[in-house]
Amino acid sequence: MKAKNCLIFGGSGQIGSFLIRKLTKNNLRVTVVTRNIHQRGLKIKTQANAGYIDIIESNIFEEKKIEKLFIKADFCINLIGILYEKRKGDTFKNIHTTFPTLVAKLCRKYNLEHFVHVSALGVNQAKDSKYAISKLEGEKNVLENFSKSTILRPSVVFSNSDNFSTQFMTLLNRLPVFPLYYSGKTKFMPIHCSDLTNIIYHIISEGSDTKIIECVGPEMLTFKEILEILLNLINKKRLLIPFPLPIAKLSAKFFQLFPKPLLTEDQLRLLKYDNVPSGKYKTNSDIGLPSKLYFKNEVKKYSYMWRDGGEFSSEKYNLGDLEKKS
Ligand SMILES: NC(=O)c1ccc[n+]([C@@H]2O[C@H](COP(=O)([O-])OP(=O)(O)OC[C@H]3O[C@@H](n4cnc5c(N)ncnc54)[C@H](OP(=O)(O)O)[C@@H]3O)[C@@H](O)[C@H]2O)c1
Repeated sequence: MKAKNCLIFGGSGQIGSFLIRKLTKNNLRVTVVTRNIHQRGLKIKTQANAGYIDIIESNIFEEKKIEKLFIKADFCINLIGILYEKRKGDTFKNIHTTFPTLVAKLCRKYNLEHFVHVSALGVNQAKDSKYAISKLEGEKNVLENFSKSTILRPSVVFSNSDNFSTQFMTLLNRLPVFPLYYSGKTKFMPIHCSDLTNIIYHIISEGSDTKIIECVGPEMLTFKEILEILLNLINKKRLLIPFPLPIAKLSAKFFQLFPKPLLTEDQLRLLKYDNVPSGKYKTNSDIGLPSKLYFKNEVKKYSYMWRDGGEFSSEKYNLGDLEKKS
């Protein structure tokens, strides 16, 4: 039987890499759109066996070029998202609202079997965040324009190639003190990237009538608890200092001057809200796909690179000791 084709936008990122492996191992073909094949081509190509993957270089708003890809697509998955606005065109509105709307319209025009659009948890609460407003508007337009769409709203997604656990371990390694915004009390339910891509694969292979699914990991952790777990894993002691809001705002104003800001004012506003299920929508557990991978157990597998000695760290092979210390 001819393998079905999944058209993926944003396939070169963290979730994209896991997803390409999951889909192609399960006999689905993928077409991945990237802005820069020279930069991203090798990474994307090596996620799948030859013959299972096509890579297309395009600006996502080159409508004519994009439209052609829908002709042979059976499914579409949109993973494109940004955490801060960049140059003129890279606005939250363009990326999180206008683009998903265009994709949903094309899914309808070419009668695709399903569209999976990855949004983010908590976007309906954070009414003062431009990021959240644009994601919510995008969700609404997707559902209005293509009835066979499912929106996934993940909490923070982690893996060995994330920008979350790895970036925090780097910062915790280098900084003697670390700021706690909102006293570190914001709650998260981190979900492992492979658990999230299992959910996407399930929707593609089994179909789903659920419009919005909140995707969360098996445990609830505060921001402070997450930092404490990471410190324990890299065997470092650091001062975690609550930052009063005016100072936090000042630091965000400063950080957002950098090309890849560690924190922006918009992200600071988002951090105020717990990143946990709203209770209004189904979660991955409700659809029979509970997340199984715990934050500490998974990060432990790659955290030795941030310990003294890195890959030569005696602790690398001595995980028993690590258990005793925790
Ligand atoms: N990671 C998390 O913790 C998390 C949590 C909640 C929700 N999400 C959502 O999940 C989705 C995927 O997340 P991820 O962590 O895999 O993201 P990622 O690693 O940052 O990758 C996103 C991809 O989007 C593409 N992209 C970024 N800016 C673009 C632009 N201006 N125009 C066109 N393409 C652009 C990039 O592809 P090219 O460079 O190849 O063009 C990139 O590979 C996003 O929508 C994100 O908001 C993520």
